[in-house]
Amino acid sequence: MIVQIQEVRKILKDTDKIVVLTGAGISAESGIPTFRSNNGLWEKFNLEELATPQGFYKNPRKVWQWYNERRKSILSAFPNKAHYKLAELESKKNFFYIITQNIDGLHQKAGSKKVIEFHGNIFREKCTKCSYKTYNEKIYEELPPICPKCNNLLRPDIVWFGENIPEDVYVQSYEIVEKAEVLLYIGTSAVVYPAAHFIEQSIYRGKIVIEINLEKTQYSDLVNFSLTGRASEIIESITKI
Ligand code: APR
Repeated sequence: MIVQIQEVRKILKDTDKIVVLTGAGISAESGIPTFRSNNGLWEKFNLEELATPQGFYKNPRKVWQWYNERRKSILSAFPNKAHYKLAELESKKNFFYIITQNIDGLHQKAGSKKVIEFHGNIFREKCTKCSYKTYNEKIYEELPPICPKCNNLLRPDIVWFGENIPEDVYVQSYEIVEKAEVLLYIGTSAVVYPAAHFIEQSIYRGKIVIEINLEKTQYSDLVNFSLTGRASEIIESITKI
């Protein structure tokens, strides 16, 4: 592992075009639960009821109650060393982007500027009927919240299962991955698409692909480096430039 760390450190030092794909594992050390690992959210809650449009329209109050609880826990969370080290690395590179599957906003709180929120943000919400959209860190008392413009239901501005990634977000992300020389993917089980496609796209294009995870994923044997361990520790080691 030591040799791998040294090789990756040199690659990150010498490469100017880097894209990072992050998942829930990078925020685990900030106390935010993951979805599919160690007692993750989908082991405790019903995905269909809470993270699909059908579940929302069937019981919007229940879905908002769940998102209210997640807003509370995310508001009390802070970025960890992994988030800060990526923000530092961004400042040293001309082409450096984070495509995050996370909705917690911790990359931005750590100082990262070029962050694409591939699945949205838990503090953004939009009307189910009109074009109203807003950002607020409110924990709603009255549930479900209603659009102040047209009095229809408000929903979290998050991409749920069965929904498409907004086209502009997808195209921007795809193009960034095309242009990058290195893809670093951190703390993601790499089983949700189209985000996981960026790993395949990078492997197919012959880019340098680096995995950081506590466990192996379906791509571990296909990538250039599969670094097993906690994101905060490994990112600190590989960014010691
Ligand atoms: N350091 C590194 N990796 C970690 C850590 C850590 N401290 N803790 C957990 N992990 C790894 C786990 O081994 C797991 O592979 O992070 C990964 C988290 O996987 P998931 O819980 O599936 O989260 P993610 O990959 O982000 O899920 C993708 O699925 O439910 C949807 O929209 C949701 O964005 C989410 C998407």
